[in-house]
Amino acid sequence: MTEQITVIRGDGIGPEIMDASLRVLDALGADLAVDFQLAGLAAQDETGELLPQATLDSIERTGIALKAPLTTPVGGGFKSLNVALRKHFDLYANVRPAISFRGSMSRYENVDLITVRENTEGAYLGEGAFTAPDGSRAESKMIATRTGCERIVRFAFELARRAGRKRVTVVHKANILKDVTGMFLSVAREVASDYVDIDCDDMIVDNACMQLVMRPERFDVIVTTNLFGDILSDLCAGLVGGLGLAPGANIGEKTAMFEAVHGSAPDIAGRGIANPCALLLAAAQMLEHMEKHDKARRLRVAIGDAISHGDRTTPDLGGQGTTETFADALCERVR
Ligand code: NAI
Ligand code: MG
Repeated sequence: MTEQITVIRGDGIGPEIMDASLRVLDALGADLAVDFQLAGLAAQDETGELLPQATLDSIERTGIALKAPLTTPVGGGFKSLNVALRKHFDLYANVRPAISFRGSMSRYENVDLITVRENTEGAYLGEGAFTAPDGSRAESKMIATRTGCERIVRFAFELARRAGRKRVTVVHKANILKDVTGMFLSVAREVASDYVDIDCDDMIVDNACMQLVMRPERFDVIVTTNLFGDILSDLCAGLVGGLGLAPGANIGEKTAMFEAVHGSAPDIAGRGIANPCALLLAAAQMLEHMEKHDKARRLRVAIGDAISHGDRTTPDLGGQGTTETFADALCERVR
């Protein structure tokens, strides 16, 4: 069945990697009807607004957005379009898989983990934050709600069960930040008792950082609060070859948005050498979300195969290909 998705081509390298990705999705037979919408600088140029209402309406209607990176202009009072989108649609779960690809520039060959980050509370709420007018003091708040903790931990266990994963590791700092991350840990332990088929352990965030670098293969699914998840998931991207291979999904009750973790890469924009894989791996997450499991699997296998053969890959992977030649190599494999 043809399903509608909203596509935002984005800024900088965005249009290059999005067009390449859509070509690969087409070759795969993903059967998607694309509603193109604007956001970011491209939207500002055309409509005067960074996040037009028509874009929000389209995402509301389709429930699924595939989004290329957006440039958030410095200044102008707009914090981040990504944060705005997450807030607007209450996309509370940020899901970032980190999987080693043979032949990538990664230091490890055996990483296969998923970070599930709480996306709406913790230290990133911005409520009650202030800096004293004389600059002598600044304060910010961390917030946890029982509902917020419970829904993200439950999400992580449900994901683990669906994906056939064996263990969920709760990462926290309950020894020091006793209130907020203490609540997260105790709610997580309660929720874990509903999932006897999945192992649950917990780890203090500093130890988790060390263990991730020393023995990344011991991790399966990680669930954690907003700030820790932000940092840990970038660490995990580094374990598997960097930003060009790091996808992310932002998932809410009714809406989901899939994107590359990297930004609009102004330093290489327009040169045709951006790696489309992070966005394509996000598209694979999207296909899973749409229950097109076979297509998601074929897309991932094609990416893994092209990388391990170094077939027309982009310079960030050590290749001499372009976005277009890499996409050609992928199109041939997914057909
Ligand atoms: P960036 O992720 O755009 O670039 C960092 C470095 O990684 C650059 O050297 C870039 O060339 C390289 N890189 C990134 N993606 C690549 C790809 N697909 N293939 C090959 N190399 C790649 O981070 P930066 O420079 O800090 O941010 C640039 C802009 O992107 C800013 O306006 C920022 O606000 C925005 N941004 C947007 C995000 C989003 O829409 N989700 C996320 C992060 C940043
Ligand atoms: Mg981050």
